[in-house]
Amino acid sequence: MSIVYSEEFKSFYLSTPKTSYVFHVNEGGFLIHDYYGKAIPAYDMREYSNRLVRGPKSADNTTSPGGAPMEYSCNGTGDFRVSALQIRNAAGNASTDIRYVSHKIYAGKPAIPGQPSTYAADDEATTLEVLTEDAVTGAKVTLYYSVFEAHDAMTRRVSVTNDSEWDMDLERIYSLCCEIPFGNWQLCHLYGEWGRERTFERSDLLHGITSVESKQGCSSHQHNPFVALVDKYTTEDTGDAYGFNFVYSGNFSIQVEQIIDGDLRLIMGINPTDFGWKLEPGDTFHAPEAVSVYSADGLGGMSRVFHKLYRNNLCRGPWKNAKRPLLINNWEGTYFDFNEEKIYNIAKQAGELGVEMLVLDDGWFGARNSDKAGLGDWFVNEEKLKGGLGLLSERIHALGMKFGLWFEPEMANPDSDLYRAHPDWCLQVEGRPLCTSRNQYVLDLSRTDVQDYLFGCMDNILKNAQIEYVKWDFNRYLTEAGSCLLAPERQKEIFHRYVLGLYALLDRLMTAYPNLLLEGCASGGGRFDPAMLYYSPQYWTSDDTDAIERLDIQYGTSMCYPTSTVSSHVSACPNHQTGRTTPLQTRGDVALAGSFGYELDVTTMSDEDKEEVKGQIAEYHKYYDLIHFGELFRIIPPNRDECAWCYVAEDKSEALLTFVCVRNRPRVRRRTVQFRGLDPEKLYQDDNGTVRPGSIWMNAGVNRAVVMKDYTTFKVHLTEVK
Ligand code: DGJ
Repeated sequence: MSIVYSEEFKSFYLSTPKTSYVFHVNEGGFLIHDYYGKAIPAYDMREYSNRLVRGPKSADNTTSPGGAPMEYSCNGTGDFRVSALQIRNAAGNASTDIRYVSHKIYAGKPAIPGQPSTYAADDEATTLEVLTEDAVTGAKVTLYYSVFEAHDAMTRRVSVTNDSEWDMDLERIYSLCCEIPFGNWQLCHLYGEWGRERTFERSDLLHGITSVESKQGCSSHQHNPFVALVDKYTTEDTGDAYGFNFVYSGNFSIQVEQIIDGDLRLIMGINPTDFGWKLEPGDTFHAPEAVSVYSADGLGGMSRVFHKLYRNNLCRGPWKNAKRPLLINNWEGTYFDFNEEKIYNIAKQAGELGVEMLVLDDGWFGARNSDKAGLGDWFVNEEKLKGGLGLLSERIHALGMKFGLWFEPEMANPDSDLYRAHPDWCLQVEGRPLCTSRNQYVLDLSRTDVQDYLFGCMDNILKNAQIEYVKWDFNRYLTEAGSCLLAPERQKEIFHRYVLGLYALLDRLMTAYPNLLLEGCASGGGRFDPAMLYYSPQYWTSDDTDAIERLDIQYGTSMCYPTSTVSSHVSACPNHQTGRTTPLQTRGDVALAGSFGYELDVTTMSDEDKEEVKGQIAEYHKYYDLIHFGELFRIIPPNRDECAWCYVAEDKSEALLTFVCVRNRPRVRRRTVQFRGLDPEKLYQDDNGTVRPGSIWMNAGVNRAVVMKDYTTFKVHLTEVK
C-alpha cells in the first residue's frame, strides 16, 4: 500500500490493497510502462515492456516511441499513436519529447490549485511526483500519481511549467495515459440524451481510435467522462475491469487506440478541440485529475471501489455521510404556476406525511413566469410570493421542515434586467448572433465581475432567509464561446476558463455557507461528473422520473457514482416525460435506490396514496443506512422483462433485494432471483421469518412463484441471525 522506487531497476512500484502499477525509466530517460493489474511483488518488470517494433528510434538509439508502452505519450517524436501531450514552442513547432529528471514520494495527496479532486489525509494516500523535461522547449512536465491505502484506486494528473524565456502554447494535455497489454478488450461507456442519461453500452473495440468526448462546455448528457475496459469474458462478478473517470466538468476527451492484437492505449483529459493555453515564462498549467480503478472482480467489483472512494474521499462537508433530508420539490407539481399559499400547502401536507424539506424550484424570482424571461434577476418576485422568501421559509420552518431553493446562476434570459444592463457579461463572439437554448444565454464565468455579481445575489438571498439546501441548475450548452475580456490569443482558453470560474464560484459559495446542502443539476443529469460531486454530494440524475426509464438511468449511473449522489424522486402518474402509469410502490422502490424524495403536488393525492407514502417514508428510514453505506450488487441488468439489485451491509449482516417486473410473460420459467454479496456461511432471516444460509439465498435464491403484473416490484429484506 505505497509507492516504492527501486534504484537498481529504475522502477516505480505503486500498490493499493489488491492492485499494482509499475513503470520504469530507461537508459534514454524515457518513462516506460510495465504493468497495471492484480497485486504483484516488486520484481524487475522491465522485460514486460519489450515489444517487437520497427519505426523511428530516438536519436540516442535507446527507444522506439512508436511501439514502446510509453508512460505518457508525446506528439511528433516517433510515437504515432494517440498522444497525451503536445506543446507548440515559440518557433512554431509542436514536436514534444519529455525525459526523466527526478522524482519525489511523500505521504498524502496535494490539492490541485483552484480545481476539485479526490482528497486524502497523510495516512490515507501516498503520492509520487515525477519531474520530466523537454530539453528543447524548456517545458517542465510533472506527472502526479496518488494511491490510496483503503481503495483499489489511483489518481493521475499532470502539470506543465514554462521554464524557458519564450511563450509556449499547450495544445493537448491529457491527464492520464494508460497502456493496456494484449487481450480481448471491450469498451463500456455511458451515453445518452436529455431524459436518458448514462445508458450503459458495452462493445468490441475496432482497430483504430474510439473516442468518447464532449464539446458542449460541460461533461454533457450525451457522454459521461467514464469508460471501462473489460475483458470479453468479464462479468458483473468476475474478470478484469479497468475503470477510468475524469474529475472535470468541461469538454473532455477519452480516446482508446487499438493497434493490433488487442494492444491498447487509453488517454483521458481535456478535449484538445477548442482548447489551447498560452504559457508565458514561469507560468504553470495544472490539468485536472483522472481516477483509475482496476478490479479482478468484474464490473461490480470496479463499481464498488468507485462508490466507496467517492463517498469518502471526493464528496465533502458535513453532508457527505450524514443522512440527507427527505425532500419534496414542487417542479413537476406546479411548474411555474404557484404562489406562497400553494407552496406552503404542499409543504404542510407533505410534512404531515413525514417529508422533511420543501424545495422551491424555478420561478420564484424576477419576471420568471415561464422560461422566457427573468433568468439572471435574482430578486424575489413578491407578486408571487407575498412577504418574500424570508416569510415563506419562516412558515415552513414553523412546520418543523427545512427549506431549499433553486438557482441557475450561470445563465441569463435575453429578456432580463441583467442582460439589458450587461450584455457583455455573456459569452459571445463579436459580430456573430448568439444561439439561444431554452431561451437563454450563458454568462461568461471566466470574468471575476460576473462571479462577484452572482455570489452577491446568492449571498443576499441566502442570508435573508433560512435556506438549508440549494439546487444549482444549468440548462444549456455553451456556444459562441468567446469572452469580451480575453485577448485574441487567449480566446482558445475560454472553455477551460469557464470551468475554472465555475469552480471558483462554487468554492466561494461553499466556503461562505459550509453547512449548505448543494444539489447539482443540469437539465437533469447533464453535468453529473466527479468534479461536481466535490461541491454537491448529490446530483439530480435525470428529468426523466419514470420508474421504468430510471432503471436504465440508475443502472448506468451506478457504474461509478455512489447511491448517495443519485437524486431520485417519486413523481405523479401518468409520468410527465413518458406518459406511463406505474404503481406508486414501484416508483418508491426505484427511487429508494438513490437520494430519495418526492416531486409532485401532494395536495392532489388521494388519501389512499398518502397512506402509502407514509409507508414508503417508514421504509426510507428503515433502509437508509443499508442503502447509503452498504455495497451495491447489480443482479439483473435492466432489460425488456426485469431488473434486480441488492444492497448488502459492509459487515454482511443485512441485505435488501429489489426486483422489478418490467413485462409479465406467460409461462416464465425463471421463478427465482438470487441475492449476491452475502456471507455464504451466515444465517439470514427474511421479514416473514424464513431462515436460510447465505449460500441458499445466493444460489437457489428467492422463490418468486407468483404472477407479477407489468411494472410491479417486490423487495426481500434479510437480517443476520446470530
Ligand atoms: C431543469 C431541471 O432538471 C428541473 O429539475 C427543473 O429544475 C427545471 N430545470 C427548472 O427550470
